[in-house]
Formats: sequence, C-alpha cells, structure tokens
Amino acid sequence: MSGSFVLQAHAELERVLAVELAAIHEVVPRGWSPESQVSEKSVQRTADTFMAAALEPYSLILTARDPSGDIIGFHWLRIDKDAPEWAHIHSLWVAEARRNQGIGTALKREGEDWARRQGAKRLFTSVNVANTRMIAMNERLGFVAESVDMVKKL
Ligand SMILES: CC(C)(COP(=O)(O)OP(=O)(O)OC[C@H]1O[C@@H](n2cnc3c(N)ncnc32)[C@H](O)[C@@H]1OP(=O)(O)O)[C@@H](O)C(=O)NCCC(=O)NCCS
Repeated sequence: MSGSFVLQAHAELERVLAVELAAIHEVVPRGWSPESQVSEKSVQRTADTFMAAALEPYSLILTARDPSGDIIGFHWLRIDKDAPEWAHIHSLWVAEARRNQGIGTALKREGEDWARRQGAKRLFTSVNVANTRMIAMNERLGFVAESVDMVKKL
C-alpha cells in the first residue's frame, strides 16, 4: 500500500522515542547478519547516544511518520567534527510494510541536502555486502564504492 508520510528533524529526543529508534537501529543488522546480538543494555546505550546526538548541531536525526503518527522511517547522519568536509551516515531504516514507496530515498535526499548546507563535500556510508538493496539504492543516488572492508573469522 502506498501512502503519505511526513519527515521531521529532531532537535531533541524524548526518551521513549530514542528507545524506539535505538531498538530499530540495533535490530537492522540482523537483516544480513542473523547472529548479531541485541540486548536491553545495548538498546539503552544506543538511546543515550541518540538523545545526545539530537542535541548536537552537527548531527541530523530524521524520522518519517505516517498520518497516524507511527514512526515508519529513520535516518541519522553526522558531520565529522575533525574533518568537516565529511558527513557520515550512521542509520537508515524504513518499516517493512512501507518499503518501495520512496521513503528511504526521501530520507536520504533530505539528509544529503542538510549535509550540503552544513558545508560537507562528501557523504560516507558503510553497507554490508549482503545488503544488495541498499547498495543498489546508493548507486542510484550517486554513491560510488571506494574501498572494501575485509573480515576474517578467527
Ligand atoms: C534500504 C531501505 C532503507 C530502502 O527504503 P525504501 O523506502 O524501500 O526505499 P525507496 O522506496 O526509496 O527505494 C527502494 C526502491 O523503490 C523504488 N521506488 C522509489 N519510489 C517509489 C515509489 N513511489 N513507488 C514504488 N517504488 C518506488 C526505487 O526505485 C527503489 O528501487 P531499487 O530497488 O531499484 O533501488 C529499506 O529497504 C530498509 O529499511 N532496509 C533495512 C534496513 C537497511 O538495510 N538499512 C541500511 C543499512 S546500511
């Protein structure tokens, strides 16, 4: 089902929303790495990070809501304080039932515009090689792969 949505940038986050977003952020890697662990402690720790990040002028926390107010998308990016020409994407998620409706693209475009306004010249994102959908979307939006992380299990 297609439908409308509203994007909102958060200059501060209430704890309840921070925990909701943190739970999403922690669960997302399970999409390509089923063994990744999520605990109450890690969610609470990430919620602390999000609450602090919302207050930073060099961080953008964006949510997408449906008309009933439910969170259906989330995006977090940050300008690198030590190298402000770089903006780093830390999180992007759209609720499963609302995918393929342009919400992910809208969140990324809004984030990109914000980064440009902050003076960033480059946008960095790290994507798991199994996340082919995200890689395709990034390529469509003009991202180019520059390096590959290599991991060996010990
Ligand atoms: C990756 C993710 C954020 C994409 O979100 P999305 O809202 O489905 O993205 P969009 O709808 O903007 O674009 C997805 C596709 O829908 C198509 N699309 C865009 N607008 C559309 C519309 N109005 N109607 C139908 N299709 C549309 C796009 O062409 C795109 O096609 P592609 O597969 O060729 O890229 C989402 O799948 C997700 O949350 N995945 C799990 C979390 C994740 O992997 N996060 C990234 C971690 S690095």
